[in-house]
Amino acid sequence: MEEKILQIKKEALQEIEQAENQKMLDDVRNKYLSRASELNNLKKGLKDVAPELRPKIGALTNEVSKEIEALVNQKAEEFYQIELNKRLEEERIDVTLPSTYEPFGHIHPLTKTINEIVEIFEHLGFSLIKNEFSPEVEVEKYNFDLLNVPKEHPARDVQDTFYSKLAKNVVLRSQTSNAQVRQMQNSRPPIKIISPGRVYRSESVSARKNNLFHQIEGLYVDKNVTFGDLKGVLNEFIRLYFGSSRPTRFRNSFFPFTEPSAEVDVQCIMCQGKGCPTCSGTGWLEILGSGMVDPNVLRAVDIDPDVYTGFAFGMGVERLTMLKYAVDDIRLFFNNDIRFLNQF
Ligand code: DAH
Repeated sequence: MEEKILQIKKEALQEIEQAENQKMLDDVRNKYLSRASELNNLKKGLKDVAPELRPKIGALTNEVSKEIEALVNQKAEEFYQIELNKRLEEERIDVTLPSTYEPFGHIHPLTKTINEIVEIFEHLGFSLIKNEFSPEVEVEKYNFDLLNVPKEHPARDVQDTFYSKLAKNVVLRSQTSNAQVRQMQNSRPPIKIISPGRVYRSESVSARKNNLFHQIEGLYVDKNVTFGDLKGVLNEFIRLYFGSSRPTRFRNSFFPFTEPSAEVDVQCIMCQGKGCPTCSGTGWLEILGSGMVDPNVLRAVDIDPDVYTGFAFGMGVERLTMLKYAVDDIRLFFNNDIRFLNQF
């Protein structure tokens, strides 16, 4: 009996040794350690063994099955480690490989400027108004008449403004100032709004001029609004947009819809005021027009100029963007060349 057990052990050890994979090892485990195994049958047959031999034989069977089990487990662990190493090797992430590049779009420089300016004016108490009060396809009445622009004013000329061939008196707006009139017609003071948008002019395209560009219109109408308020608000805007270091000046000007009127210039960023082609040698670049709303404009929308006063301004978005980032050709904003856009 003892021999038989030792023989089983020998065979089991040999088969464990020869097992090449986990599947073969499982078969070995089954054969030698399951309920139906030879060893187990021997254990069951112990009662037929002479009583004095039983403890020894019993102990030996137990010992052998424990030994087989330990070896099977050890070998299983080896297989597991081999498999694990193989997977680690195969699935290893090489962090030095270039990653898959997912290009994604970003905000256009003009939109960025508009957002920035809108945020500054919101901080100064102005509200952003909706497009319904500033259509791009406009009737002359809002683009010119109600803004006190005389019938024979050169701005109305087809040389300057795009007229519809189909509908009489319909233009592509040449300024965002139409937003002022529409806003004043649709609400009562206090009015404190800004309105950004596209404007169109019939001009020959150059580094400084495009047929399409953007403006931001501002309007503040209330009791006791003064020219001092205008200067205060615009100076604060300039400080927040350019930082305090950029020299600016207010210059006396004329617009049909404001009296008095002023234009604001910023020192040319290309030549730092020395004079260059960009600033036509003057050292200054105009960024906005402004003034106290003309009493005629208030009267035309039924606001009493003896009770209310206001100021208005209109600024060029391209100009402001060019000045901030030293861009020297307005056409770059419209070509959508990714090499240009990526720099913002
Ligand atoms: N609309 C003028 C332009 O396009 C700019 C402007 C000047 C707007 C004075 C205003 C203003 O609101 O008060 O040149």
